[in-house]
Amino acid sequence: MMGTVGTVPLGEGEPARQEPLTAAEITEYVVTAAVWAPSVHNTQPWRFTAEGQRLSLYADAARQLRVADPEGREMMISCGAALFTARLALRSLDYVPETSVLPDPGQPLLVARVNWPQRATRTEFEQRLFGHVRQRRTHRGGFDTVPLPPGLLAALREAAARYDAVLRVVADDGRRAALAGAIQQAEQAQRLDAERVAELARWAPAPGSTRADGVPPDSYPARAEHTDPDFPGRDFAHGHGWGLPPLATASWHRSAGVAALLTTAYDRPADWINAGQALQRILLTASTSGAAVALHTQPLEFAQLRESIRTGLSDGAYPQLVLRFGTVTQVAASVRRPPNDVLSTGNSEDGGTTQE
Ligand SMILES: Cc1cc2nc3c(=O)[nH]c(=O)nc-3n(C[C@H](O)[C@H](O)[C@H](O)COP(=O)(O)O)c2cc1C
Repeated sequence: MMGTVGTVPLGEGEPARQEPLTAAEITEYVVTAAVWAPSVHNTQPWRFTAEGQRLSLYADAARQLRVADPEGREMMISCGAALFTARLALRSLDYVPETSVLPDPGQPLLVARVNWPQRATRTEFEQRLFGHVRQRRTHRGGFDTVPLPPGLLAALREAAARYDAVLRVVADDGRRAALAGAIQQAEQAQRLDAERVAELARWAPAPGSTRADGVPPDSYPARAEHTDPDFPGRDFAHGHGWGLPPLATASWHRSAGVAALLTTAYDRPADWINAGQALQRILLTASTSGAAVALHTQPLEFAQLRESIRTGLSDGAYPQLVLRFGTVTQVAASVRRPPNDVLSTGNSEDGGTTQE
């Protein structure tokens, strides 16, 4: 549903709230927006604590994918996306966020602390990006055979560069086929691994579920949409036939779109958080241009496949995400936990755990 949560403006063009806001109101506004960040399997692996004019973002290790993501790399990318969204929410109120990433070596789950000591008028672009936080959706499947808007790829590369990440378009036919082949291999290996299958099933609720996390059936196609080369999606339905029926207007010939890798020069938690910030800026920038984005992290969850992509397709830089960009009519839905489930106020600094 588009619109307001409390009095928070979440849609493009909706009026900003009237001043002045208390620190508690600002915090609620920021967290209400931040929960709409993308996260691996919609695990939403984050918690926030607020003390006055300071917000702390923690990774929630209880929501980490222990089998697919033992190092917590994808968990930290997801938290980086939430951090970018929180900072953008502050900008939408004309605050200038002051951010300290991984501020305490003794608390590896403390992703960032943010405060907002100064003000400066938001730019039109920041406001447009913010207007897409709530409406952006991950795409799963093929694209229409329509080119991307001119200038979009340059804007996406620039978005990545702001966070020391590189968006590498994989344009050459042979390299595209190699990337698609790595995803196909990962999907095959995943489907034969009982532990991985069980973990994915835990984040793939059945139709009609009231869960506020995981990947719901109305966010993926019931029938795999094949492209050439084929970039298979994850098997969220695991044989149940769940998913969206094809749109009557969808053409049979679907394009794989523009394939790309988001990479970082190093592979430390700070780089994963950077990749997450870059990812959300990329996704929102694409959304403001009417482009959709599909994500494929399957091959990056297998050490050997990740290494072969690193050495063969990304000049030795560390691949953090595989993306495809294109144009398509999107009807996918998604869900989130309410902000009160993830925000605690007061002096509690133990935000890294959860009771769920
Ligand atoms: C680190 C990361 C990895 C992801 N990997 C995949 C993936 O392999 N396949 C996929 O369909 N979606 C992937 N996603 C997208 C999430 O499933 C999606 O963000 C989540 O379900 C919430 O839905 P939304 O993005 O439509 O709001 C990934 C997202 C993140 C942040």
